[in-house]
Amino acid sequence: MSNKDFWQNRWENNQTGWDLGCAAPPIAAYIDKLPDKNIKILIPGAGNAYEAEYLYKHGFKNVFVLDITLKPLKNLALRVPEFPKGNLLNKNFFEHTGKYDLIIEQTFFIAIDPEMRNSYINKMHELLIPGGVLAGLLIFDSEPAAEGPPFIDTFEGFRKYFYNDKFEVKKFEIAENSITPRAGREIFMELVNH
Ligand SMILES: C[S@@+](CC[C@H](N)C(=O)[O-])C[C@H]1O[C@@H](n2cnc3c(N)ncnc32)[C@H](O)[C@@H]1O
Repeated sequence: MSNKDFWQNRWENNQTGWDLGCAAPPIAAYIDKLPDKNIKILIPGAGNAYEAEYLYKHGFKNVFVLDITLKPLKNLALRVPEFPKGNLLNKNFFEHTGKYDLIIEQTFFIAIDPEMRNSYINKMHELLIPGGVLAGLLIFDSEPAAEGPPFIDTFEGFRKYFYNDKFEVKKFEIAENSITPRAGREIFMELVNH
């Protein structure tokens, strides 16, 4: 089964246990502190994209939402009809091109095959302008998952991918305001692109 078919099946069968139903609180708190509402933002592997809805409703109008599955993009269009349709990108992240000031990570890195992790890092580096920021959350555990998705890893397991020569790490720490079931198990990261 292709990656696209796999995720399409998940969405069609409502197997979306990752879905919070709202913007993740640590990301909402981060958004609340962003000084410039004109920046160009990408949310890849966005699913229902509550963070995009949050951004849009807080005055950020240059927000792009990307998912390989069409259904969650349609869900966002139904919830927020005024969200620009041209900013809904039904694409494979690894084939996407463009330049962004900020990219938000939320349960996407753990959704992709671990073999694709270096490609993810390279793609993020390519999609961000120099000085652009990759910010968001990674769910970790004391042991790496034997199988996935989700391909949960340990704190150190994630650390070794995000500390690299492509980014300057501003924050890579346990998130303070995670939802209760994820409390103490989420890394909040903020990385500046070289
Ligand atoms: C675990 S879900 C997370 C969704 C959302 N970020 C959230 O936290 O609710 C992963 C999402 O990534 C999408 N996805 C998986 N592989 C992708 C790829 N290569 N390119 C774009 N989207 C992808 C899936 O369709 C799915 O909606």
